[in-house]
Amino acid sequence: MAPIYKKVLIVGATSGIGWGIASALVKQGTHVIVVGRRVDKLEEFWKEHGGTDDSWSIQSEHFDATELREIPSFATKIIERNPDLDCVILNSGIQRPFDFTNSNGLSSDDLQTLDTEMTTNYTSYVHLTAAFMPFLLKSKTPTNLIYISATLGLVPGLLRTLNYNASKSALHTFILNLREQLNGSKEDGKNANVPKIIEIFPPAVQTELHDEKHQPDLVNGGQIGIPLDTFIEAMMGALGGDEVPDEFTVGNDGKVGEVMPFEKERQKAMKGMAAFLKGDAGLRKFLKSEQKA
Ligand SMILES: NC(=O)c1ccc[n+]([C@@H]2O[C@H](COP(=O)([O-])OP(=O)(O)OC[C@H]3O[C@@H](n4cnc5c(N)ncnc54)[C@H](OP(=O)(O)O)[C@@H]3O)[C@@H](O)[C@H]2O)c1
Repeated sequence: MAPIYKKVLIVGATSGIGWGIASALVKQGTHVIVVGRRVDKLEEFWKEHGGTDDSWSIQSEHFDATELREIPSFATKIIERNPDLDCVILNSGIQRPFDFTNSNGLSSDDLQTLDTEMTTNYTSYVHLTAAFMPFLLKSKTPTNLIYISATLGLVPGLLRTLNYNASKSALHTFILNLREQLNGSKEDGKNANVPKIIEIFPPAVQTELHDEKHQPDLVNGGQIGIPLDTFIEAMMGALGGDEVPDEFTVGNDGKVGEVMPFEKERQKAMKGMAAFLKGDAGLRKFLKSEQKA
């Protein structure tokens, strides 16, 4: 398969889905910048995929995405070194269980973990989006911003991970509005180019997400879900297709599909409300930018 992208930044590429995507991209001949907190895993990726000191085809960046104040300088460094970057993939994530039925309440450690989970899965994504957006908007060639989302954000059926589910719901809502804002700015002539916003909903996949080291109340957590290779193959097939959907799922059968019908209805309602609020009967008369001098 011909390379889909020229150069891709993957935040959260030291294991699981991020490692799988980075690996598949390298095999296509794409330059990758792999990011994560574990330096040993970054080195392992670099060595395993033939990185050399005089080649920039594989770069690795040690970075903790929860260090929100460091995100602008991280983005500036990546952009300065890689002005040909045409795709950013936000994938980093953690999943933790919480039990609100315990009459002793949550410990202060639990509450800190809860905050870290929200920062990792949601707030850092928003900050990274803000940091890379000016560069993507100025690009003269097509660019992509890809978010690894979760079906639990749409159907929060795994009750033990309620904060994870909420973080992914928040992310999904942000992505929906972001895409509409960007497309609207192109239609209004404010921006000549906007990045394509793609949201991917994996099924349960065999990665480190459910490992006992992260979720000690699980047994053989790494076996939960479909094999990683099956997921990566399906996802890469969809991203490399002629018509790349704005959002797609991969099912437990390893097949690419559309989001559930109720979610499509919700998005139709969102677009209707957005159009109404933009019009004369909506918010227009309250916006300072719309006031006549
Ligand atoms: N596996 C599933 O069943 C499943 C299903 C739906 C959605 N997802 C989503 O897929 C994404 C990838 O998860 P995975 O399943 O591949 O799990 P994984 O194997 O645990 O990988 C998580 C990745 O995120 C990185 N990460 C975590 N915190 C980070 C931080 N603060 N800064 C930078 N990188 C960070 C980790 O790297 P370091 O530890 O080295 O920092 C690792 O590379 C997540 O967003 C997850 O919610 C997974």
